[in-house]
Amino acid sequence: MKYIFANWKMYLDFDESNILMNRLLQNDFDGDSLVMAIFPTTLAFTEIEKATRETLWNVGAQNVAWVEKGAYTGAISAHMLASAGAKYALVGHSERRYVFGEKDEDVRKKVEACFDAGIIPVLCVGETKEDYADDKRQYRIKKQLLAVFDGLETKGRDILIAYEPVWAIGTGDAATPADAEDVIGWIKKELQDFTKQEIPVLYGGSVDKKNVVSYIEQDSIDGVLVGHVSTQYDEFVDLIREIEKQ
Ligand code: PGA
Repeated sequence: MKYIFANWKMYLDFDESNILMNRLLQNDFDGDSLVMAIFPTTLAFTEIEKATRETLWNVGAQNVAWVEKGAYTGAISAHMLASAGAKYALVGHSERRYVFGEKDEDVRKKVEACFDAGIIPVLCVGETKEDYADDKRQYRIKKQLLAVFDGLETKGRDILIAYEPVWAIGTGDAATPADAEDVIGWIKKELQDFTKQEIPVLYGGSVDKKNVVSYIEQDSIDGVLVGHVSTQYDEFVDLIREIEKQ
């Protein structure tokens, strides 16, 4: 089973999101070997959720607020997204961490809110270019994992991780498959300190139709989180077809 998760970020408006989803729905994809999810703009979330009911596609939120309800202007809670049909939510994406200033502690609260609401969190971790240059990759990722998993009750809860080196996101400078495999293998070992559960780990960062198979065929990599390419119909369909051929 391979995960293909599509993070549409803020690339597509309401109409563009619906048009792309409707085009994707015209294809038959292999539901036995793929777990697929779209993370659309919240604006198009309910339309896409309706369109994808009874299909292979799942819908996820790009972000959640950890408080259930109240005076939080501009926020949308995990509970509200769950009631609107969100199966997954990205939590701690690097754009949330580095553009919007989310802290490790915020990310922990969001993971807990997802558990509470019955959403499967997709915890994003990864080092910056500076971390990488300073040989602090493991330090950074371990810190991010610890903040979320230390003392977290994961029994009976699903959670996924996406390893996304910040320097590889939207740059065309993807991590080599061997490098991604090394880090993801290491993440899986680290997680054993916290939980006996098998936690799927995806790779994200400049994944495209040409390199996708090189990640998917690695032992430890359970799937891919695709940003920009997933907003381009032909490229994204070709990418899915590449995985299906495996
Ligand atoms: P990218 O983004 O595929 O555009 O590099 C990946 C992500 O941020 O999830």
